[in-house]
Amino acid sequence: MKGEKKIIITIDGWSSCGKSTLAKQLAKELNYVYIDSGAMYRAITLFFLRNHIDWTKPKQVDDALQNIVLQFMYNEKSKQSEMHLNDENVEYVIRDLVVAEKVSDVAAIKDVRTFAVDQQRKMGNHKGIVMDGRDIGTVVFPKAELKIFMTADKAIRIGRRFKELYEKNPNVTIEEVRDNLEMRDYIDSHREVSPLRQAEDAVVLDNSNLTEKQQFDLALKWAREKLEKKA
Ligand code: DC
Repeated sequence: MKGEKKIIITIDGWSSCGKSTLAKQLAKELNYVYIDSGAMYRAITLFFLRNHIDWTKPKQVDDALQNIVLQFMYNEKSKQSEMHLNDENVEYVIRDLVVAEKVSDVAAIKDVRTFAVDQQRKMGNHKGIVMDGRDIGTVVFPKAELKIFMTADKAIRIGRRFKELYEKNPNVTIEEVRDNLEMRDYIDSHREVSPLRQAEDAVVLDNSNLTEKQQFDLALKWAREKLEKKA
C-alpha cells in the first residue's frame, strides 16, 4: 500500500537458533523482503574455496571480491528468494558442511564484511525488510525499529542442525555438527570486526521451549507494536 509505514526488523543470534525460519515467517506475514545475510558470507566462502583463494592474503581477497556478484532471486518453484553467485544458483551448495567449516573464518575478514555490509544496507533503503545474521542490529542497521536477539539451549540447537543436515547427508555425525557449531559460535562472537553481540535495544527471544507458532506470534506482536508506534 502506498504511503504505508514500513520498518526494518533485524534478527541476530547464535547459529541454528531458527533465525531464518522466523525471519521468513515475519516477512511473509508483513509482505516484507527477507534477506539471509549469512547466505552472502557462505557464497563468498564458496567462491574462495572453488578458486583456491588464500584468504590470509589481503590482496587475493580484494581481487577475488571484485569478481563476485551476489544476488537474491525469487524462485517460483520453492517460493523463496535464493542466493545467486555470479548468476549461478548456489542456495543449496552453500549449506554444505564444507562451506560451513570455513565460513566463520571468511566472515571475520574486514574487507569481506565491508563488501557484504554495503550491499545489505542498500537492500534496506526502502525499509520493509527482515534481515537475519550476527551484526544486523548492531552494525548494519543500528537504527532498526525492531531488533530481535535469538537464543536457545546449545543441545537443542545441535539437535536441530543435525536433523537438517542428516536429511541431506545421512553420513553426517552429531559430533561433526557439534564441533562445527561450537567453532562457529566461538569465532563469530570473538572476532575483532563486528562480533556477534546483543544490541542494547534488542529484545531477547529464547526459543528453547517455544513452538514455531509461539515464537512467531510473539515476534509478530512485537512488530505490530512497533508499526503502531510509527503510524
Ligand atoms: O546464519 P548462517 O549460519 O548461514 O551464517 C553463516 C556464517 O556467516 C556464520 O558462521 C557467521 C557468518 N555471518 C556473519 O558473520 N554475519 C552475518 N550478518 C551473517 C552471518
